Amino acid sequence: MCGIVGYCGPKKAADVLLEGLKRLEYRGYDSAGICVNNMGNLRTIKRTGKIKDLRNIVPVTFEGHTGIGHTRWATHGEVTDENAHPHSDDSEKIVLVHNGIIENYQTIKNKLIVEGHTFKSDTDSEVIAHLIASLYTGNLESAVKETVFLLKGTYGLAVMHKDIPDKIVGVRNGSPLVVGIGDSEMFLASDVTAIMAHTKQVIYLEDKELVVITPDSYKTFDFNEQELQKKVENIGWDLDQIEKDGYDYFMEKEIYEQPESILRAFVGRIDREGATGHLGGLNMTPAELINIKRIQIVAAGTSYYAGMVGAYLIESIARIPASTELASEVRYKNPVVQPDTLYFVVSQSGETADTLYAMKELQRKGARVLGVCNVVGSTIPRKSDGGVYIHSGPEIAVASTKAFTSQITVFYVLTLILARMRHLSFEEGIRIVSALESVPDKLREIFKDTNSIHDIAKRYSKYENFLFLGRGLNYSVALEGALKLKEISYIHAEGYSSAEIKHGPIALINENTPSLFLVPDDNLRDKVINNIKEVKARKGKVIAIAVKGDDEVAKIVDDVIWIPSADPLTYPYLMVVPLQLFAFYSAIELKRDVDQPRNLAKSVTVE
Ligand code: M6R
Repeated sequence: MCGIVGYCGPKKAADVLLEGLKRLEYRGYDSAGICVNNMGNLRTIKRTGKIKDLRNIVPVTFEGHTGIGHTRWATHGEVTDENAHPHSDDSEKIVLVHNGIIENYQTIKNKLIVEGHTFKSDTDSEVIAHLIASLYTGNLESAVKETVFLLKGTYGLAVMHKDIPDKIVGVRNGSPLVVGIGDSEMFLASDVTAIMAHTKQVIYLEDKELVVITPDSYKTFDFNEQELQKKVENIGWDLDQIEKDGYDYFMEKEIYEQPESILRAFVGRIDREGATGHLGGLNMTPAELINIKRIQIVAAGTSYYAGMVGAYLIESIARIPASTELASEVRYKNPVVQPDTLYFVVSQSGETADTLYAMKELQRKGARVLGVCNVVGSTIPRKSDGGVYIHSGPEIAVASTKAFTSQITVFYVLTLILARMRHLSFEEGIRIVSALESVPDKLREIFKDTNSIHDIAKRYSKYENFLFLGRGLNYSVALEGALKLKEISYIHAEGYSSAEIKHGPIALINENTPSLFLVPDDNLRDKVINNIKEVKARKGKVIAIAVKGDDEVAKIVDDVIWIPSADPLTYPYLMVVPLQLFAFYSAIELKRDVDQPRNLAKSVTVE
């Protein structure tokens, strides 16, 4: 998704911008560009492709100490050099980069064309540059402010004027923007990772806020030009944490980090003495929690599947009716909000537009919405009514892995709290605590031998279609496994409850459509085995993820990935990790761009 970097200070701006854009690569993009102001001489360079290609064409003479840069993920207009940012007006005095979508850009553009403006791109963003230029009378921040009153839609903007070589105006509405405060230098960015090599002191802008930065100063304003006193915050993450740590791919690193990241999600949140948990960020008293009659979880993609695991746990263990809904569907269905329903929005990035808008719609109707997020200081945690950080650390690969297992961990703790407030006995509570505590070591056991998963992925990567089948708590894990395979290997995969295949999908089964069955040794094992036999009877190839020692499964399937025996409650962890590895090795075998799969962005900040 699009990214913004801005710099004002003593360094060569082009170097800072290119480095910042490189850090934003993980968000996904199709083109990039920078503009620097060298004492009133604006120089812009932009093109489709990777940052390294852009870097190769930036001349060493590209001087200037103030500049803006952008990574674009096309929404309006094709992926072309012209449509890449920065954009400028006819006089080429105003130059800007923009994240978001301007809904009324065509109306504004038509009017500007009548007034004599000519446009070089098909983007909604260029329209903003022309509009600012048409309203500019010598004060850049006033022109920007007047402009945003005319815009409908979402924007994070960084704007420069040719004649003001050491100033950038930033504005936020619906698309994140953060100010970095350095020593005689200031930064702007859509994401802290772009600037954290230079400073850890940041200010998060809220919607409808504007900032003016120069090398030595920053001033923040609301849209009524009232100056604001904003809190300076300290970024908790180190840049080192973002490096690959010796692995070839971020996804690989993030898969192997899970014993530690899961631990971070529950450490300090378990109370063995009370066989319960603590989640302080919920901002709810026990009296409020006991009155909750229903829980609804709202999210997108992998976070949605984590939410499904959460709803299953809450309903089956805490005995509170719970369901999961796709964020993209919630916003427009005029949802019914009831006073005794508690809502959770789940999002790794905390910036997913679908999830954010669903949250806003629910809050508008009076709902109490709590966030389960990873990125500290992102929009959802700041705008929700409370919530829990999953503490996964930065997740760079587009395919979400460690965030999923940490999100479900938070739901295990939440379930424990809610269940222990109701009927769950001390002994049953301790069983959940022990099960959770056993997970990191069980995963380490899986990691001791991943060769068989690699070998199976290699042999099966020639197939074009897969079914992923699981039941109960592991049904959503099957859906997540199918999503992982699709998004990074581009192999078509569908997830189903294994009980559902007889209602339609079994028609797809033949020797060219393998099925991957999740077979835990729980109450549904025998039923899953029957489903395997149905597939085998139709000449379907079957891979099973099964519990070590389950000879009956080994006898009827073509290949087995073994997992250690564990408390059935923890099988979602032990099943999903081999599925992540299966997708990873399949993608490697097919020589895919594992960390940045085609057409996808890490943080989907448009609807
Ligand atoms: O940042 P979020 O968790 O809100 O993102 C939601 C989805 O876009 C995300 O999980 C997506 O499905 C991943 N690429 C899956 O690996």
